[in-house]
Amino acid sequence: MGVFDTDGIDASGHEQVVFCQDRQSGLKAIIGIYSTALGPALGGTRFYPYASEADALADVLKLSRGMAYKNALAGLDLGGGKAVIWGDPGPGKSEALLRTYGRFVESLHGRYYTACDVGTYVPDMDVIARETRYVTGRSVEHGGAGDSSILTAWGVFQGMRAAAEHTWGAPTLRGRTVGIAGLGKVGKYLAGHLIDDGATVVATDVSEAALAWARATYPQISLVAGVQELITADIDVYAPCALGGALDDDTVQALAAKIVAGAANNQLAHPGIEKSLAERGILYAPDYVVNAGGVIQVADEIEGFNFERAKLRATGIFETTKRILALAAEEDVSPAVAADRLAEQRMAEVGRLRTIYLG
Ligand SMILES: NC(=O)c1ccc[n+]([C@@H]2O[C@H](COP(=O)([O-])OP(=O)(O)OC[C@H]3O[C@@H](n4cnc5c(N)ncnc54)[C@H](O)[C@@H]3O)[C@@H](O)[C@H]2O)c1
Repeated sequence: MGVFDTDGIDASGHEQVVFCQDRQSGLKAIIGIYSTALGPALGGTRFYPYASEADALADVLKLSRGMAYKNALAGLDLGGGKAVIWGDPGPGKSEALLRTYGRFVESLHGRYYTACDVGTYVPDMDVIARETRYVTGRSVEHGGAGDSSILTAWGVFQGMRAAAEHTWGAPTLRGRTVGIAGLGKVGKYLAGHLIDDGATVVATDVSEAALAWARATYPQISLVAGVQELITADIDVYAPCALGGALDDDTVQALAAKIVAGAANNQLAHPGIEKSLAERGILYAPDYVVNAGGVIQVADEIEGFNFERAKLRATGIFETTKRILALAAEEDVSPAVAADRLAEQRMAEVGRLRTIYLG
């Protein structure tokens, strides 16, 4: 993929793509700014050993566009961006590299705020923050929001409640069985909310530590051997909380649940899967809508972190999901398409305000 060719920035509609290199620290980073229509672009930094430069560019373009839609529907005054650092985060990550990266972020003067993503963690953000003001996801000790999975799980639970109301008439999972794939940072908190709400939880994880945690903390969770067993179990709701691409053709055909609502990003394995879900009568609560609690949590740092304020905003995912599901039914489109339409509408309507000259 070339930068400006048909698969690159030109086709994707990005505002700006910044390539950053520093030979001494070994930094090779790409910052993608899809849109600043609603405000500075916010999105995490992925540290990943891509097979090629083209793969790194393709990923940052896809991810930064996704953040614009997520931030728009989360009601944030933030545009969408994302960054990738090309390299192996194990041996490759050093103080010098992270601080060099921080200086490149600072050089954008607030057009882009960074945060954690795959391969970067809260302590890394504290290091980056030594060189730039434009970083979120810092530790609580450094004025940050800390673990974003807390409000991610809360938001997923709200989205699931909205889907339950749309499907069964009441905004609760009481008496329903929810299958969680992945009892990681988000899955664990989600399981707790569901149990508190009166749901039965069935779960699976590939990590023995996660399973041991479940046995010790919530012995009432039924643990099954794998995702295949989970999706064919007698579940009402499926919550993918592990990796992307959870909804592929085989999964959709085998799925017993009536609702899908989970934390994993990019759940639809390929375009068209949303149609297969609809054909099978399965309601899909779009991933980027219901998992926005994490970005809501870290975005709150920009104002000076206040957990209650952030939680209130994440609770709004209930109403947003309801609106999307209602619009999808009204316009006879999938919830994924309805979500995109609402996000584009907000970017256009609110983004336009910036064209009014303030004098
Ligand atoms: N943490 C956040 O704030 C946040 C925000 C938005 C989206 N997400 C997305 O939610 C998902 C979960 O995030 P997390 O922070 O809990 O990650 P995590 O790494 O803490 O947890 C993922 C869990 O899934 C398990 N897993 C991996 N492969 C599996 C498989 N094949 N079958 C069953 N279990 C498997 C892992 O063992 C792990 O316990 C990810 O897709 C992430 O991108 C997370």
